[in-house]
Amino acid sequence: MVTLTWALLSAFTVTARAGTTIWSGSFNPFKTVADFDKWSWANQVGTYQWYIHGTQPTSHYLALSSSYKNPAITSETNGLKMTIDSTATWNSQMERAELIPQTTANLGTGTLYYHFSVKRSNTNAPDSTLEHQVAFFESHFTELKYGVGSKPTNLVWMVSGQEKWSTPFTADTWFNFAYDINFSAGTVGLWASTGSSPLTKVVQNIAASTSTNSADWHLGVLRIVNTQAPEDWYFSGVYIENGPINTVIGTGGGGTTTPPTSSTPTTTPPISTTTTATGPTQTQWGQCGGNGYTGPTTCASPFTCVAVSPPYYYQCQ
Ligand SMILES: *[C@@H]1O[C@H](CO)[C@@H](O)[C@H](O)[C@H]1NC(C)=O
Repeated sequence: MVTLTWALLSAFTVTARAGTTIWSGSFNPFKTVADFDKWSWANQVGTYQWYIHGTQPTSHYLALSSSYKNPAITSETNGLKMTIDSTATWNSQMERAELIPQTTANLGTGTLYYHFSVKRSNTNAPDSTLEHQVAFFESHFTELKYGVGSKPTNLVWMVSGQEKWSTPFTADTWFNFAYDINFSAGTVGLWASTGSSPLTKVVQNIAASTSTNSADWHLGVLRIVNTQAPEDWYFSGVYIENGPINTVIGTGGGGTTTPPTSSTPTTTPPISTTTTATGPTQTQWGQCGGNGYTGPTTCASPFTCVAVSPPYYYQCQ
């Protein structure tokens, strides 16, 4: 009885202290992977942008199942299996399958916690002889890597390309993470756990060039370079909250269960060719134009707006 009371009290305390989810990457809104295809540059609906992938249909790269999630995450129905293979090259010889938040929330202000859980199995296991970038920001101020460093079989947490923490990437274990990013201070730290264990802080915050345009955090995997062997990566428990951090696995995120709807595509003007001296500017790697895009079209110096995938996507480089 005492134990039960204490457990309830602890649960209440944790709940009461958790931050607010400002963007949920729960897969609950996605009834089938075809729902990911409802997003397009011309029709930016739902909670994820899905454009970084290979030439095959979405069902070749994404699959949803309750067996693909961390079972401790009771707020979610399914986890996501992401597959890369030789068909998965995108804009280069690198194989990529990546989801990006679709949101009007500012994902780069104050102190935010980027939560996600990742797993591999022994089937289509990631190849530790090849570099992988996982759950990375476009500028790589922080990310996970696999297949690099002194222990290529470890999952490695990096800050600005430097290894700060690692753990053996054992099969069939869910690794839970939260990137602890203080955008005001320009620091990033790491929380981690496995299975259903609460997150603990494993690396205190260290200085980094923390920045995001709220559309350049890549949930997924990039493999260098193109090889035949398919790999499967599993993700669940994805959400971003402001502080204080929710360390309990399975209770955060949640969010909407409304599937993205294909609204009538609106035709928006192509990127503006007029620039004003005082307008907002986009940062390196940020989007600066494309159908449906309404953000800044001017790049911060010294970057220029490059037509990466016209007429859909222009990027400051
Ligand atoms: C983030 O950094 C700012 C500026 O240094 C500081 O005032 C604030 O307390 C930090 N936030 C957290 C949650 O540590």
